[in-house]
Parts: sequence; structure tokens; C-alpha cells
Amino acid sequence: MQLFIDTADVQEIREAAELGLLDGVTTNPTLVAATGRPMRECLTEICSIVPGPVSGEVLATTYDEMLAEARELATIAPNIVVKIPLIRDGLRVVKVLTGEGIKTNVTLCFSPLQAVLAAKAGATYISPFVGRLDDVGHEGMDVVHQIIEIYGNYGYDTKVLVASVRSPLHVLTAMQMGADVATIPFKVIGQLIKHPLTDVGLARFIADAAKIPSKG
Ligand code: G3P
Repeated sequence: MQLFIDTADVQEIREAAELGLLDGVTTNPTLVAATGRPMRECLTEICSIVPGPVSGEVLATTYDEMLAEARELATIAPNIVVKIPLIRDGLRVVKVLTGEGIKTNVTLCFSPLQAVLAAKAGATYISPFVGRLDDVGHEGMDVVHQIIEIYGNYGYDTKVLVASVRSPLHVLTAMQMGADVATIPFKVIGQLIKHPLTDVGLARFIADAAKIPSKG
């Protein structure tokens, strides 16, 4: 499974990239706004750090404006993936962009039926928001399971990108289900690495290593 980072903070992206395990980046308007930087400047720098797919989202919500904005975003770098909201005009935009060879990530997906429509429009990625579903009392990962099952039934190529990840358990379940990608906040990447037994074990090895005679 591919691991993306869900942030627009270039410091976090650089640190994650240094691990050598980062396959791509997703951003959204909220994450870009948090940086205080213009969208284009932010995405240009991210694309220079990470060679893998970098999702940048359109801010418009009408057909003509989304299409123009998506085409503009696609000029930033070859690895840009344009994020389009899962609304009626968004699906129309995805169909056109797919025909033009522009990669898309259909965002704000909360149901398997929405995901099927995105796949039929030719989306490169579908982003079910699992954490936000959990927040309203639905099991977010159930939706991921349904999408994977339905895409498998009909052979859709759209990749399932698990988004709104809040915990290591979301990542583990996504892997068990065979999702293509999980996009993970910086904090959760740290949680994937850390285990208290690793720390305790290492502390003991360091203490015992000091007792090993240097000679003879
Ligand atoms: O980038 C989309 C998604 O991952 C947002 O996550 O935590 O704001 O629900 P969150």
C-alpha cells in the first residue's frame, strides 16, 4: 500500500520524505490555509520535494470555474493530481480532465455509490473520508470495504485513497482491506513508528551494552 502524507506544511513533508517511505502528498484548502501561503507557491514547493503524486484542490464549485482552475493547477508540475469535490459538476469536470490526461482525486466521498460515480467519470483516485464518517457515528472503514468490493466486482481502475485518517488503526485496517493508498497526518506517521516495547527494549540493550568488556 502506498503511504501519502496529508499536509501542506513543507517542513513536515521534508521530514516525512527523509524517512524514504513517502509515496505522495495530499493537501486540501484547510491545510493550505494553515500555512498562510498562496496555493500555487505552496504546491510548487511540495512538488519539488516529492516526486510522487501531489494532490492540490480546486477552490471553485461551478463547472466552468473548476475546469479552468484544474487545468491551471495541472500546469504546476507533472506530478500534480487535481482534487475535485464529489458534487454533480465535479463529476462532469473529472470526465473532461480524464479525457485530457489530467489526473484527478475525487474528494469528500462518504458513500460507495458516490465512489462508483467517480470511477465511472474516470477518477484516478477516490478519497473516502473515514475519520469524518466515524465522527458522525458511521464506521468509516466499512465504506472503504464496500468501495474495494464494488470496484473489484466491476474492474474499475480508480485507486482507493483512504483519507481523513486519524489513527494507526485506520492505516492497519486500510492495509488489511487492500486499499491502494492511505494519506496520513504527520502526527499519525510518528505513531506508526513508535512502540513502547521498542523503547524499553532499546534502553535495556544500551544499558547492557555498557557492561560488555571492551577487551579480552
Ligand atoms: O485531505 C482530506 C482529509 O484527509 C481531511 O482529513 O482530518 O480534516 O477529516 P480531516
